[in-house]
Amino acid sequence: MVNKIKVKQLSCYYNKKCVLKSLSINIVQNEILSVIGPANSGKTTFLRTLNRMNDLNIAYYRDGVVYLDDNNIFDMNMEKLRRRVGMLFAMPIPLPMSIYENIVYAPKLFGLIKTKSEQNDIVEQTLKDASLWDEVKDRLNFSAMKMSGGQQQRLCIARILAVNPEVILFDEPCSGLDPISTAKVEEAMIELKRKYTIVLVTNNVKQASRVSDKTAFFLMGRLIEIDKTGELFVSPKKKETEDYITGRFG
Ligand SMILES: Nc1ncnc2c1ncn2[C@@H]1O[C@H](COP(=O)(O)OP(=O)(O)OP(=O)(O)O)[C@@H](O)[C@H]1O
Ligand SMILES: [Mg+2]
Repeated sequence: MVNKIKVKQLSCYYNKKCVLKSLSINIVQNEILSVIGPANSGKTTFLRTLNRMNDLNIAYYRDGVVYLDDNNIFDMNMEKLRRRVGMLFAMPIPLPMSIYENIVYAPKLFGLIKTKSEQNDIVEQTLKDASLWDEVKDRLNFSAMKMSGGQQQRLCIARILAVNPEVILFDEPCSGLDPISTAKVEEAMIELKRKYTIVLVTNNVKQASRVSDKTAFFLMGRLIEIDKTGELFVSPKKKETEDYITGRFG
């Protein structure tokens, strides 16, 4: 087991109020780590810190170190870090262009692909990896805005894959989706962990138990417990975890 990300004593603050307290956590390569916990427990702040999405927020301050492989992410070039660590949000936001153009947009911008055949290859490969190819292969020139919500979310996954990341962060990616679309996104995530390392923030404890290898429970800015998903759900070691997963609060 290789630790892809090592978080050491990370604390985060907004306007001097501490919202993540001395968090230390290892994220294993090619695994899915779920982060669960009630509202305001710091889940999104944790994800946004992993690709330095909060760096421009002057109210935000952090302390501690995060290593990606063995490099401190806070010393890295931000654009390079964002390409290595991609992030998917709750609301899919495709670009108002075709399915095909949505995928080749960023790699073209970064100069990662040049020829038409390279473009075709990346479109096919990323759509296959996002479990969307079979549904859209005959209409790649259709507008992405006309797809269903679940398809748009998987297209957004394909767009992230197109810049060749190593880690993908998902922040409640299924919160606006129906159960069938949710199942398809979950299926895509399970496929993706063969190539990528995944951190999934979810309000849905059943989703965490279905897809993840490990689960971390956050409460009021603290990591209460992290364990193999089966262990955490079957025999949680902390009372707070048990209360949360059995629906007693949150
Ligand atoms: N940009 C911000 N400015 C100031 N405070 C913030 C900001 N973002 C989050 N917070 C505060 O930080 C704390 C943690 O918020 P965060 O969004 O990380 O929680 P969360 O676990 O993702 O919650 P939810 O389940 O509602 O998404 C909360 O008290 C929130 O009000
Ligand atoms: Mg959140």
